Amino acid sequence: MWMNLFNLSDTTEVAKKILQRGEMVVLTGAGVSTESGIPDFRSPDGIWNKYDFTEFATIDALLRNPVKVFGFFKEFLGPLKSAAPNKAHKALARLEEVGLVKAVITQNIDNLHQKAGSKNVIELHGNALNARCMGCHKPYTLDDIENERYGFPPVCPDCKKLIKPDVVLFGERLPDAAIKTACQLSMDSKLMLVIGTSGTVAPASGLPHLAKKAGADIVEINVEPTIITKTTTDFFLQGKAGEIMSELCEKILNEISVG
Ligand code: OAD
Repeated sequence: MWMNLFNLSDTTEVAKKILQRGEMVVLTGAGVSTESGIPDFRSPDGIWNKYDFTEFATIDALLRNPVKVFGFFKEFLGPLKSAAPNKAHKALARLEEVGLVKAVITQNIDNLHQKAGSKNVIELHGNALNARCMGCHKPYTLDDIENERYGFPPVCPDCKKLIKPDVVLFGERLPDAAIKTACQLSMDSKLMLVIGTSGTVAPASGLPHLAKKAGADIVEINVEPTIITKTTTDFFLQGKAGEIMSELCEKILNEISVG
């Protein structure tokens, strides 16, 4: 039944399409980082199957019960610091180097695209390595929170307000500049590569539709079909991001060196 609903593709066909289009914009979700040992949110062993996000990831929850939410931050955000980029992050950085990736728009807060060498990364949901005072906006770091340098939950010594990781919680606005740039990149893109997102959280989930409406081809990599596969995707590569991206990257680089 599924087979009638979406177009299963292969890396040879997609490599040709990318070279034909000459440039792509990439949208990533938590699935691009699972092979780095970071759980995603909605898979069976995902974070929101362990924790009720209404109690741990909304701005109301943080203000209501900071001790509980900062306990979650320490457990979930702490390991991000030592995580290493996987083959998918590295392939994207390499493809940016040869001019085929214009930008990576990510919903992830793990900093792994930058660690892999990607330069043009648009972070829609912030970056967990940074933190900021909720009152005076003075910058802090995840280290400051982890080490309890400013107490637990951490409080800004200057203005006595909470120091919050620089990540977007449910109920908060996305950074204006990031979402504006992401929309523009999507509308200008000739091909959008969507990797490892369930496509369930707006506004990121709307970007593939925006790109398609403006004429882009949509290539999607995921271990399983998503709502995007059913509504928007032109070429679906089913499997693990690390394996598919390294194969795709190799085929593209071979074509370039032959051509
Ligand atoms: P989800 O957990 O909703 O979706 C992850 C997707 O990645 C699923 O479709 C998986 O099938 C797929 N996946 C997992 N491992 C994979 C692998 N190795 N290769 C390919 N695909 C894989 O995560 P997001 O879509 O990123 O926001 O979630 C969006 C937002 O919801 C997050 O940024 C976060 C969350 O609540 C906030 O907290 C504001």
